[in-house]
Amino acid sequence: MSGEPILEVKDLTVGFPTDDGVVHAVRGVSYSVAAREVVGIVGESGCGKSVTSMAMMGLLPRTARIGGSIRFRGQELVGAPKKALRALRGSKIAMIFQDPMTAMNPVYTVGWQLGEALRAHSDLSGRAASKRAIELLDLVGIPQPERRAEQYPHEFSGGMRQRAMIAMAISNNPDVIIADEPTTALDVTVQAQVLETLLRLKDEVNAAIILITHDLGVVAGMVDDLKVMYAGRIVESGTVDDIFYRPRMPYTVGLLGSLPSAAGGTDRLTPIKGSPPSLLRLKPGCPFSARCPIVRDECLSVEPELAGVGPGHLAACVATDEVAAMANPKDMFHAPPLVVAGSEADT
Ligand SMILES: Nc1ncnc2c1ncn2[C@@H]1O[C@H](COP(=O)(O)OP(=O)(O)OP(=O)(O)O)[C@@H](O)[C@H]1O
Ligand SMILES: [Mg+2]
Repeated sequence: MSGEPILEVKDLTVGFPTDDGVVHAVRGVSYSVAAREVVGIVGESGCGKSVTSMAMMGLLPRTARIGGSIRFRGQELVGAPKKALRALRGSKIAMIFQDPMTAMNPVYTVGWQLGEALRAHSDLSGRAASKRAIELLDLVGIPQPERRAEQYPHEFSGGMRQRAMIAMAISNNPDVIIADEPTTALDVTVQAQVLETLLRLKDEVNAAIILITHDLGVVAGMVDDLKVMYAGRIVESGTVDDIFYRPRMPYTVGLLGSLPSAAGGTDRLTPIKGSPPSLLRLKPGCPFSARCPIVRDECLSVEPELAGVGPGHLAACVATDEVAAMANPKDMFHAPPLVVAGSEADT
């Protein structure tokens, strides 16, 4: 997508030193987000989605080793002073978490907390902030916002709490909103309503959105650009159509095959066997090789780079031509995967 990048991530690496060695949670992630663009990041649990976004917010523990670059409107955030990051957080870069109860304080009313979020980054009076808090609750579709502003977080339903979080995220007109599994805890109809609210407000506040989820079904129809992450790296990147209709990396194919809504009626649902590799001691080669049904010898020695497979479409696999030639790539997962020496695919 065209437009000046607002946020540019280049070769981001994050390692967590532990007693057993370094957990390589993010291993060279690069992407950029332009104004009003919606970028989706998908991948299984533990692939580094949250750590990537925490790095952008400057919220990683002090022990984390961060490499590479994160630029917000040209300003380098990696290694930036805590104070500079705090000034950006909640104003220019806002975050919506999976569980709003952990982000809200149970002992204060929702209206008060919204007002405080506003006042932290502006010189609004208390009264003006309360008024704006009620407007924001109205904007995110909370009925009777005056009454609701006086209530505590536990008096809100899950969907309403998440709307209140969205209100908080947009309160200071951010340039970027990072939504990390914003609807995972909600039931499906409420999920759709909350995401619609988020997208509607994106244009109102002119923000870019990074939508993180493990559910490919959630992002279809919502995002401009989609990144598939596996074992700390982006393994495929493209438009929603590229990913859904022209997947080139077997892991993406596997994700699609385990997705009910994308399976399109008669297709069989096939979960990917096995689990992601440990990020503590990664073996050489492609990290998906142990689970990949079309694995070949070279996959066990060299980790493939992301390479162009079409306009704006990248995939990290040596067999992208083979996948492209398949009439129905999802069928590759129907056959039992080859057993490779040291394979973790048989769990
Ligand atoms: N403070 C930490 N110390 C050590 N390892 C960590 C720490 N934080 C995260 N990790 C590890 O980094 C990896 C990536 O974690 P991350 O939370 O980014 O996954 P995720 O893709 O967001 O998963 P989920 O879908 O479950 O939220 C995991 O293996 C996790 O165990
Ligand atoms: Mg996460």
